[in-house]
Amino acid sequence: MTSKVQWGVLSTAKIGLKAVIPAMQKGERATIAAIASRDGDKARAVAAEYGIPRAYGSYEELLADPAIEAIYNPLPNHLHVPLTIQALEAGKHVLCEKPIALTAAEAETLVEVSKRTGRRVAEAFMVRHHPQWLKARDLVAEGRIGEVRTIHTLFSYYLTDPTNVRNQAEIGGGGLYDIGCYAINTARFLFGAEPERVVGTFDNDPEMRIDRMVSGLAEFPGRRHLAFTCATQLSPSQRVVVLGTKGRIEIEIPFNAPNDRPTRIIVDDGRDLFGSGREAIEIPVTDQYRLQGDAFSAAIRGEGPAPAGLDDAIANMRVIDAFFRSGRSNGWERP
Ligand SMILES: NC(=O)c1ccc[n+]([C@@H]2O[C@H](COP(=O)([O-])OP(=O)(O)OC[C@H]3O[C@@H](n4cnc5c(N)ncnc54)[C@H](OP(=O)(O)O)[C@@H]3O)[C@@H](O)[C@H]2O)c1
Repeated sequence: MTSKVQWGVLSTAKIGLKAVIPAMQKGERATIAAIASRDGDKARAVAAEYGIPRAYGSYEELLADPAIEAIYNPLPNHLHVPLTIQALEAGKHVLCEKPIALTAAEAETLVEVSKRTGRRVAEAFMVRHHPQWLKARDLVAEGRIGEVRTIHTLFSYYLTDPTNVRNQAEIGGGGLYDIGCYAINTARFLFGAEPERVVGTFDNDPEMRIDRMVSGLAEFPGRRHLAFTCATQLSPSQRVVVLGTKGRIEIEIPFNAPNDRPTRIIVDDGRDLFGSGREAIEIPVTDQYRLQGDAFSAAIRGEGPAPAGLDDAIANMRVIDAFFRSGRSNGWERP
């Protein structure tokens, strides 16, 4: 194995501090070598606390650091594409937080820059690295629950703080961008296909103007369905139920899988409604953010398979775009 990939982190975003930085610091192939903030004091304080060697008081200084090979971009959604482009132009690979862009058209602008600079971009859908999702996909592929006809996904939390990035419409706030994107991404992952048409109904917060509840239906080839609700002002809950002709798979904590205890997926062969045919498959303790960082780092070194790249990110954005159009047209829309 070659040396660890030298990563730089754009901003002191909560997701970085709470989850991604500590996880990647435990990685086999990644090291966090620098962090930047708009506020140099904040960057230095975080660097000291996390043992990060270098701190910068602007994003530009980080991007100019010649030792940095890859950038983790957890900026607010409206800055995903602009700063990813700046990082690519500076010769860095980029792991960018979800959603990769505000629209598919904006995401598409990354393709030319990535090709020209020869640098990779991936959208940070960490769930795709978690063994519970790989297991669920394997079970589906081997026909364990028969033919999968529908996936029901629920993702909610309660957040009314108007200063949170999720509650600011002008910088890409709202539930569909923040968590509905997971419902779409994981259904595309399990079905291994793109939806042909979608319809969604939106409830927007009257003051903050962000979507606070979206329920959507996506029809995949073969008349297979994803039905989901994502909500930002509801009691916190997460569940994915995959329903097949011969059984059911449930992923208990599908998105924010903990890194300090095992997770479980339930497989029920459907023999009755009381769980007689129920098997709980325990997935050992792991950290999906560490796996994500290592997978992307290995790909950069040419020592591992390429993670889902821009094509996949753009396809996901096309579905998000179609749901927004459906919210306006009150009808079916094609991604
Ligand atoms: N994959 C996951 O599990 C996961 C989980 C949560 C969030 N996310 C994604 O990560 C991103 C960040 O979410 P977060 O909750 O961590 O956000 P956050 O704590 O608000 O962090 C965003 C950071 O961006 C910087 N920033 C630059 N311009 C800003 C502006 N106009 N307004 C606010 N902040 C600005 C700030 O850092 P400085 O002050 O240091 O410059 C700020 O700390 C979002 O895209 C979100 O979708 C992913």
